[in-house]
This record gives sequence, C-alpha cells and structure tokens, in this order.
Amino acid sequence: MSRTILRGRVLSFHRAPQAIDDAESYLYLEDGAVSIEDGIVTALGDFGSADVSGAMVIDHRPNLIMPGFIDLHLHYVQSQMMAAYAGSLLEWLNTYTFIEEQKFAQQGHADAVAVDFYDALIRHGTTTAVAYCSSHPRSVDAFFAEAQRRNMLMVGGKVMMDRNAPEELCDTPQSGYDDTKALIARWHGRGRSLYAISPRFALTSTPAQMEMVRALVAEHPDCYVQTHVSENQAEISYAMELYPGAKDYTGIYEDYGILGRKTLLGHAIHLNHRETAVLAEAGSVAVFCPTSNLFLGSGLFDRERLVSNGVRVGIATDIGGGTSVSMLRTLDEGYKVLQLRGQRLNPFASFHMATRGNAEALGLEHTIGSIAPGRAADLIVLDSAATPTMRMRHATMTTLAEELFLLQTLGDDRAIAEVYVAGARAKSTLVGL
Ligand code: GUN
Ligand code: ZN
Repeated sequence: MSRTILRGRVLSFHRAPQAIDDAESYLYLEDGAVSIEDGIVTALGDFGSADVSGAMVIDHRPNLIMPGFIDLHLHYVQSQMMAAYAGSLLEWLNTYTFIEEQKFAQQGHADAVAVDFYDALIRHGTTTAVAYCSSHPRSVDAFFAEAQRRNMLMVGGKVMMDRNAPEELCDTPQSGYDDTKALIARWHGRGRSLYAISPRFALTSTPAQMEMVRALVAEHPDCYVQTHVSENQAEISYAMELYPGAKDYTGIYEDYGILGRKTLLGHAIHLNHRETAVLAEAGSVAVFCPTSNLFLGSGLFDRERLVSNGVRVGIATDIGGGTSVSMLRTLDEGYKVLQLRGQRLNPFASFHMATRGNAEALGLEHTIGSIAPGRAADLIVLDSAATPTMRMRHATMTTLAEELFLLQTLGDDRAIAEVYVAGARAKSTLVGL
C-alpha cells in the first residue's frame, strides 16, 4: 500500500468561526504533513514529526493545503450558457435556459458537456458539487458516469418539471416519478454518487407532480432533495397564483412534505418570518448564490437574519445563472452582497462556509470538507501569489486572515495550484489545462 505525504501550510476548520480572531475554530500548520493512503487521510501533523519512511513526499511549500471546495447548487446542463443576457429570472429561463437544456436529449451532447463540466470544477478547486441535471434521464447518467470515472463525490438528480416549459423538456407526474426511481436505483450510493430528488420549482411542477415528489421523498429518506425558493418577486407572485391555498412560497413545499434536513433550497432571498421559522424547524438549508443573485438582479441574501433564526445556510455558484465556476469568486461576490446588507463576513467564516460549512449542510462532515484522519483526501493547494496583482498584495500581507481575504478577493482558478481527488492528483493531470 503506497503512502503519500503532502507537505505545506495546512488549514482546516473544526467548526464555524465566531469572529475573525476565533483561532480555536481551525487548525493551522505552518509546515504540515498530510499523510494519504488509499484515498483517505491517515495522519495530519507537523512535518518535522511525520513518519516519512517509505512515503512519497510532495512538497507544496509555500502554498496552502485546504479541503477541496464544495458547491451546494449548480446546473451542470447550463455550463455552456453562462453569461446569457437577460433582465430577470423568468426571462432568462424562458429565453435561454429551457432552450439550452433541450440539447440534453442527445446522449453525445450530455457526455461531452459532462467532461468539460468536471474539467472546469477541477480547474477551480471544487471537488464536490450538488447539481441539477436536465429532465432527461440520460443527462443524469452522463453526470454520474463521469463522476465515477474521476472518483468524485457528487450529488445530483434529474429535474422534474411538468408545466410552464417547452413540451420537449416536460415530463409527467408518472414519468418523473418512474425515471427518478430508476435513477436512484442505478446511482444512489454507487461509488461516491448520491442522489438528489429535484423538482425544479413550484412554477414548473403541477400539484399532481408535487404529490409524486412527496411520495419519492417519503420512499427515499436517504436521498437529498433540491429545489428553488423565493428568488425573484415575479416568481413569488406566480407561485402564489399557482398554489392559492399555500400560506407562502415555502408553504408550498411544506404542504407537500418535502422540507427536511436533507433539503437544499436555492436562493431563499425574500423569505418572510414564517418561512424562516419553517425552514429552521425543518432543518432545511438555504443556499446563498451570490453571483447569480447579482447577475439576475434577484436580490440580496440576508444571511444574518437566517443564521440568527436558526436556519442552516450554505453557499454555491448556481452555474449558469451564476457567473463563475470559482468558489473564490463566489466568496468574493458573497462578501459584497453582505456588505450591501450591512453584514460583514470575515475571511475565516467565508472559507469555512465553502468547505466544512457546506459539508455540514450535506451532513457529510465526517467524510469531506475538512482534513483529518479518516476523511477523504479531496484537497486543494492554494497559491496566494498566483498572478501579478496577487503578488503585489502578497508582498504586504502579514496574517493568515489577510491571505485568505486576498485569495477570495483577487483569486480565481489561477490560484488553484493543485487538486487531489481521493488522494490522486487531478488538476496537473488534466489534458490541455
Ligand atoms: N429557478 C428555477 N430554475 C432555475 C434555474 O435554472 N436557475 C435559477 N437561478 N433559478 C431557477
Ligand atoms: Zn438553480
């Protein structure tokens, strides 16, 4: 059994930092050794005390080794339609998105986009993501098959949608149910793949489909559930027209019994107090998608209000409403959104959110999101002097907090020096990087 040791500065979080000086919330090693065997971290400590006999040592000094980023919400089938010029969510969906996703009826297209999508994730240091596929089961097969080839822990599912979209994209309550059951049987728990039951949102699912979603969620409590909520005012008004009996938008999902600890709700921007309380009680996760929310003019996520009311929160790119695959760019835009809310997210809290925080949102904190014995060796190596601009700022930097803030404010895929997926080098081995 071969053993690899990564040498470098190491940062990993134990819990959410309470303040910028909360040094108990993380482990930082100035000259650390991460030992890896069979894709798993087996030891972590100072390099000086590590057992290096028989191990292959890869020296990443002076770079920073961290857990790989986790992206809690994206649409892999929108990889080729980022930067679509639209005024707002519903225009964007109808003009571009529902056209683009129809291409996934073709297996060849789905397979090709899946390869490019995973290359992009790796280039940007994202080792786990939660994805919407299209309504075509073959798009899900392409998504998980490529994840398996790369040994990546990925979560995803077939979008269910049976109205308010082109016919070519719509399923039916029965076919959505049958296809989802078959895909869960084929992929959930196979290798590192995990399934997310994925009703797109209330606007594109009839009450009959929501009933089927209720059944799927009840029959598969070990699967995730993902949908969108309260992203845009016009969307909220239309949702309430379509479900006149619901107390509010969140109430629709509540009525169909799909809110639980494994439920991830994209956007969750304009929630009222009752909705906030319902999400807190259910333990569902509100997913902050800053680049998308700015790009589509959707609104400013109120992180502090949600967190102080006990709602679990995560962060994501929301490709292709989002404008970058990079979680560094996402943290930067998230910081700016919160600035506009008068809220200040310190750099430790940011990097916690993109790693351990998102792992906790998935209930996977014992597997991914931190570096410790027994965890998967899904790791990234960050170079905070990767570009000329970063180098200039780097020269004046004196603290770890400054370094993290520099990485998030000025960094992108160029700052990701290397990526390890289950202990294997994944970025430097990409073809045509
Ligand atoms: N709401 C329903 N579908 C989508 C989507 O694809 N992207 C975004 N941003 N919001 C949605
Ligand atoms: Zn989305």
